[in-house]
Amino acid sequence: FHMRGTLLKNPQKVDRFLCRTVRTVASAKSEVFHAGGHRSLSALQEERFQQAERSVLIGYHSRINEQTFLKNLSRHGDIKKYFFYESYGVYALVEFTNRESVASLLDEAVIPTCNHEATVPFKSRLLSVKNLDSADHLNLQLNQQFQPQTSMPINQLIKRLAKEKTVEQQLISLTEAYQLTEENSRLRFLVCSLIRDLASTYFPECTIKPFGSSVNGFGKLGCDLDMILDIDGTSISKVKPKSGLSMEFQLKRVSSERVVTQSMLSVIGESLDRFAPGCVGIQKILNARCPLLRFAHQPSGFQCDLTANNRVAVKSTELLYLYGELDPRVRFLVFTVRCWARVHNITSNIPGAWITNFSLTVMVLFFLQKRNPPIIPTLDHLKKLAGPADRSVVEGNDCTFVRDFSKVLLQKNSNTLEDLLREFFDFYATFPFSNMSINIRTGKEQHKPEVAPLHIQNPFESSLNISKNVNNSQLDRFIALCQETSWLLQQSETMIPRAGDQGDNPTPWGLASLLLPSQVVAVKSRKETTGASQREDQEFTGIFKEYQVNKKLRRL
Ligand code: GTP
Ligand code: MG
Repeated sequence: FHMRGTLLKNPQKVDRFLCRTVRTVASAKSEVFHAGGHRSLSALQEERFQQAERSVLIGYHSRINEQTFLKNLSRHGDIKKYFFYESYGVYALVEFTNRESVASLLDEAVIPTCNHEATVPFKSRLLSVKNLDSADHLNLQLNQQFQPQTSMPINQLIKRLAKEKTVEQQLISLTEAYQLTEENSRLRFLVCSLIRDLASTYFPECTIKPFGSSVNGFGKLGCDLDMILDIDGTSISKVKPKSGLSMEFQLKRVSSERVVTQSMLSVIGESLDRFAPGCVGIQKILNARCPLLRFAHQPSGFQCDLTANNRVAVKSTELLYLYGELDPRVRFLVFTVRCWARVHNITSNIPGAWITNFSLTVMVLFFLQKRNPPIIPTLDHLKKLAGPADRSVVEGNDCTFVRDFSKVLLQKNSNTLEDLLREFFDFYATFPFSNMSINIRTGKEQHKPEVAPLHIQNPFESSLNISKNVNNSQLDRFIALCQETSWLLQQSETMIPRAGDQGDNPTPWGLASLLLPSQVVAVKSRKETTGASQREDQEFTGIFKEYQVNKKLRRL
């Protein structure tokens, strides 16, 4: 084994390293990941942290013989779980039963010497194996247990959905295809743990926790890895110590907590850049509202964002996780809407005036609160159910809500996923965006407190709008697509699979047809090229309204 030291050469382009295929050999069944039984996010995270601390990541230069691999590693102790994946080479994530085995493995590993490049002797749990005998470079046949872990291309997903029998099954199938796997989740926690190894040289008691879609239950394979540096263990205590002892300040006195965060991230960014193997393209984005470091972790293929002092985002993550666990329909609908929005370019990977996945998720939650009876409770209700241990005030914002799932009693609502999908698009096709704001705290729309095309109240910082970035034209595109989708969902030819069409390539129907290129997008792009389709847009909106009226008349 060789330590993966940092070679002093130019960092390469971030996107080159995005993971191509991740394959698993040992497909361990999840005990904690979407286990069905309600586990609190903190219990789930604790278990994942423990696993990560007992794990190493080993890079191989080519495919390797599994037996040789196991023989070499088990000399250091029992292996609990392992799996392989491909990301510009073969990697293995190995979890030992005991942490001592990791130490034993590291003791044996050498820091490589290179002829023309100097290495920084930073010891990490990212290792690589070189110079194996040629007998070990067996050309492995594709093993059936190997599972790709990057998200499925859209055309493949559409084919998969077209084969399902009901719309309900389509939503479930989409979620199953996209959600993070057991292995991917382990890899995310291991990367946090590897970054912590470096950060702890400055802040020994710090932790690095994932937040956002890596852990909130709504993450799609390939989503970014949001991390928070938490130094709670070393936080400044206001209690006077009995011994009279207090820590000498390790940071120079600075004017605000923001400056502390900036300076901490700055030094960590510097050392990631210089010493951390596998971390490339480090950008220090320290002047943002929430200062962060952005980089790619090459061996995992993750695009990483590291923030500090961002506890409100951690509370939002807990809240989203809770909502996702309360009723399975929440996750199915969120995954589906997020996927629909991505394929129609309502959301984007590039920051800009687009609606974000976070805003879209809050919109789905609000819609579910507005069902009759509501499928999920309001945040105010969750706050009422909170006990003393749930109390949480972050930077003056009350972030209290109940975290014990069993205390939340849900009302009986038997809407099917198909009903909900249809109603979601109807709801936002006709929502009074021009004067009303979306608020999951109260579960009611409210008059907009400020001028913004789309106003979604931040659940924990009520004076903020989480969709402040969205401009009129992006909101218009969203509304037009909701109208079009709602219309498609009312067409019987869209909603019924074609009889006798059950071969390998059935015609997309139901949810699959909603993911095909949109008429609205086609109209919009024609408008850009010919400038002649404003009329078509109006006609479309007119048809939609007429259609809605007809629908109401039919109901009457
Ligand atoms: P994807 O990365 O797009 O899959 O979703 P995500 O939920 O991880 O979103 P993102 O990476 O943009 O943000 C990470 C987390 O930060 C979110 O889950 C929220 O908890 C929080 N967050 C993001 N945007 C906002 C915002 O505008 N306001 C607040 N309060 N929190 C936000
Ligand atoms: Mg994210």
